[in-house]
Amino acid sequence: MRPQFHYAPAANWLSDPNGLVHHAGEWHLFYQYNPQGEEWGHMSWGHAVSPDLAAWQELPVAIPETAQDMIFSGSAVIDDAGKAGFGRDAMVAVYTAAASHGPQRQAQAIAHSTDNGRTFQLYPGNPVLDLGMADFRDPNVFWHEATNRWIMAVVLSNENRALIFASHDLKQWDEMSVIHGNGAPGRIWECPLLIELPVEGTGETRWLFKVDVLHDAPGSGALYQTGTFDGIRFVPDGSALEPLWQVADHGRDFYAAIAWHEPRDAAGRPVWIGWMGNHAYQGRLPQKGWRGAMSLPRRISLTRQGGHLRLRQEVEPAAAAGVPALTPDKAGQALVGKLSLPGGSNLDWTATDSLGRTIGVERRGARLVVSRQVPHAPFLDALCALDLDPALALDLWLDHGSAELFSRDGCTALTLQY
Ligand code: FRU
Repeated sequence: MRPQFHYAPAANWLSDPNGLVHHAGEWHLFYQYNPQGEEWGHMSWGHAVSPDLAAWQELPVAIPETAQDMIFSGSAVIDDAGKAGFGRDAMVAVYTAAASHGPQRQAQAIAHSTDNGRTFQLYPGNPVLDLGMADFRDPNVFWHEATNRWIMAVVLSNENRALIFASHDLKQWDEMSVIHGNGAPGRIWECPLLIELPVEGTGETRWLFKVDVLHDAPGSGALYQTGTFDGIRFVPDGSALEPLWQVADHGRDFYAAIAWHEPRDAAGRPVWIGWMGNHAYQGRLPQKGWRGAMSLPRRISLTRQGGHLRLRQEVEPAAAAGVPALTPDKAGQALVGKLSLPGGSNLDWTATDSLGRTIGVERRGARLVVSRQVPHAPFLDALCALDLDPALALDLWLDHGSAELFSRDGCTALTLQY
C-alpha cells in the first residue's frame, strides 16, 4: 500500500509541507505531523531531507508541539548575514503558534536551528507577530532582493484575505498591504504562496499568488492569480472588477502547496510540492499505520495562453527519472509508473487494482473526465470534469493509492488519491 515514489512518513499523520528550504546540499521538507497517531492533532513539524528531490530520508520530529501551542504551517529561511541575531547561516523557521487550550488563538512565531534543521530553539520573545486573532496563519516568508528584506504573506482565514508584512530581522514585522479575495469562490483561506516565476519563452518574470480555500472552491481548492509585486503590494493582472482566479489542480487532493523559493533550475523555475490530501475526508481513510503523502515535486513557471498567464507544472526531472514507464494494456497489473495517453482521439481508459480501486480517464472531444472509485471507502468516489484541448497528450503518474495527471503542455494538473 505504501507509495513507491512519493514521500510518506513511516508512521502517523502527515499534511501540509512546511519550511521548504535548501541548505548545505540538502532539500529540507518539513511538514505538518502528528507524532502520536494517524489522526490530525498534536501538530508538530516532521522532517525529511533529500540530496536530489528524488530519495527522501525521514528524520526525527524537528519542532514538537509545546505545552501551550501546536506548531502550524509556515516557512523556513537561511539567514546568511545573521540579521535575526542567531548567527550567520542560521535556519529560521517562521510558523503559526496555535493555542491548543482555551479560546482559539493564532500568531506568528520563530525558531532557529544551527544544526541544519535537526533541532530548533524557540525564540523566547515569541510571538513575533500577533494581531490577537483566532484565525491568522500560515506565514509564507522569502527574501526580497530588490528591497533587501524579508516578505511574509499570511492569511486572515475567516476573512478570505491575505496580508503582506516586511521585516529586516524576522522579529519586527510591518504591515505593507492586503490581498483581497474579491471574486474568489469558497471560504476559509489557508497556506498562501507569493513567488516570482519566469514567463516561458520571454526572459521576463511575473508573480504568482496562490491560496488554498478550505470549503466550496473548485478542484482541490488551490486558486491562483498572476500579477506584479514591488516589495509592498501585489497587483493582480486583469481587471479589478473581474479578477481572474484560476485553479491550480482539478483533482481533490493537492492542497497547501508551497515552494522552495531557491534554488532554481537553468530556466529560473523553482520547485513546489503539495499535500496529496483533503481535510474533507482524510481523517476517514482506512488505517494503515501512516496517513498522508506528498505530491511529486513539480517545477513551476508561467506561460501565456488564451490572453492570460497560466501556471505550468512539470514533474521535477530528478524525481521522474526513477519512475518506470507503463503501457496502457499493462497498467492494470501494477498501477505504479508513468503512463502516457495520446491526444487526438476519444479515449476511455480504466484500471482496477487488486484491492478493487478503480481509476478512469475518459475523453470525448474537449471534455475530460477523471474518476475514482474505492469500494472500501465509498466516500472517496469522485468525478472530476474539465475542458481541455483534445489534441493534448496526457501523462498519468500512478503510485499506490494516488494518481497525478498533467496535460502535456503542463497547464492542467489533476491530483487524486484513490
Ligand atoms: C491547512 C491547515 C493550515 C494549518 C495546518 C494545521 O491544511 O489547516 O491552515 O496551519 O493545516 O495542521
